[in-house]
Amino acid sequence: MKDSPFIYGTTVSVHSFTNREAESAKLRSNLLNGINTTIISPRRWGKSSLVEKVIHDINKKDKKTKTVVIDLFAVSGEEEFLEIFTREVIKSSTAKWQEWMSSGKDFFKKIIPKLSLGVDPNTDFSLSFDWQELKKNSDEILNLPETIAKKKGIKFIICLDEFQNLSSFYGYLNFEKKLRASWQRHKNVTYCLYGSKRHMMTDIFNNPSKPFYRFGDIMLLNKIETKKWVPFICKGFATTGKMIDEKTAALIPLVMKNHSWYVQQLAHYTWNLTNKKATKVEVDTAIKELINANTPLYQKETETISHTQLNLLKAVAKGETQFTSAAVMHKYLLGTPRNVSKNKTLLINNDVIHQVNNVFEFVDPAFELWFNKQYFNKPYTLQ
Ligand SMILES: Nc1ncnc2c1ncn2[C@@H]1O[C@H](COP(=O)(O)OP(=O)(O)OP(=O)(O)O)[C@@H](O)[C@H]1O
Ligand SMILES: [Mg+2]
Repeated sequence: MKDSPFIYGTTVSVHSFTNREAESAKLRSNLLNGINTTIISPRRWGKSSLVEKVIHDINKKDKKTKTVVIDLFAVSGEEEFLEIFTREVIKSSTAKWQEWMSSGKDFFKKIIPKLSLGVDPNTDFSLSFDWQELKKNSDEILNLPETIAKKKGIKFIICLDEFQNLSSFYGYLNFEKKLRASWQRHKNVTYCLYGSKRHMMTDIFNNPSKPFYRFGDIMLLNKIETKKWVPFICKGFATTGKMIDEKTAALIPLVMKNHSWYVQQLAHYTWNLTNKKATKVEVDTAIKELINANTPLYQKETETISHTQLNLLKAVAKGETQFTSAAVMHKYLLGTPRNVSKNKTLLINNDVIHQVNNVFEFVDPAFELWFNKQYFNKPYTLQ
């Protein structure tokens, strides 16, 4: 049997990537023209995939621009960050390991890194600093890409995924100021910063009292439209010897409200259940399977929120808009207007709900389906 054409759970930069022509063009143009860019969207709409795709395209076409992509998810402090940053910048600046080894004396004045080759010297090396020295001279490291770029007549694009993770570092406030002070002076390095915690990212980049305020362009990533998903789904079936007609394919983004991850997941489940031609029946069964698979996660999510938050979520699920009206507060047992306001902020900050056209919605469409079944016994089946 062929592999599924639908992918979720990892970024999709080349295979299984659809649409995003306008966003790709804009991001590519920003990054090649020195405009620092921040990408913000709810979880799993496709930020990391978009960056990977654009970087992949740039690498293919533009040899003078060196690119670095670092995921800060597992990086736990300033020292580790600086080491990874240095290593990745040096690594992308040249493919020759001899140059990696001499980079210590070529590009550093105040602080010398200890470099050693990895198991395969052509692809890897490790690097470390003396921590006391590092603390005193971190600006030399933060300026490293600009130093190398000037010396070699090249440009850098540096992408930092899960950027908000920096704010969990010890001494972050100072570090944040240092980062901004160095990076804003770089003429040959462009930064692309993005991350999955929307609220934290917005606070870092949109808060006038924070150093990264107005650091660059803020791109708010939209959902992929149905008219792009439908041909993508039909093609995925066709190239693997199965079929789905446009009307049936359109049910998938409809149920999953065009949420990138879930559209791919539901398409995958539907594809998996299909022998030759998918019908409404397969999509229906796939929805149930998808929700079942995710149920432990949703149960955990509701266990961690308070009773009044849960009640507020019920009011959102029912399409209420006036949460502080006496009738709504009474009907859903929302507590006082202060409770309502506090809970609303908490649910927004945790990316459980968001406001779209003045109405609050669940951010996660499958969680919403599960929630409606759980608390209102609303069936999952398609209408
Ligand atoms: N352009 C795209 N075309 C098709 N599917 C996509 C696209 N972008 C994202 N997806 C789907 O959405 C999933 C999540 O994408 P990705 O990890 O890039 O999102 P993200 O916004 O970086 O998520 P997070 O907020 O968790 O970091 C992918 O695994 C894939 O299934
Ligand atoms: Mg991501």
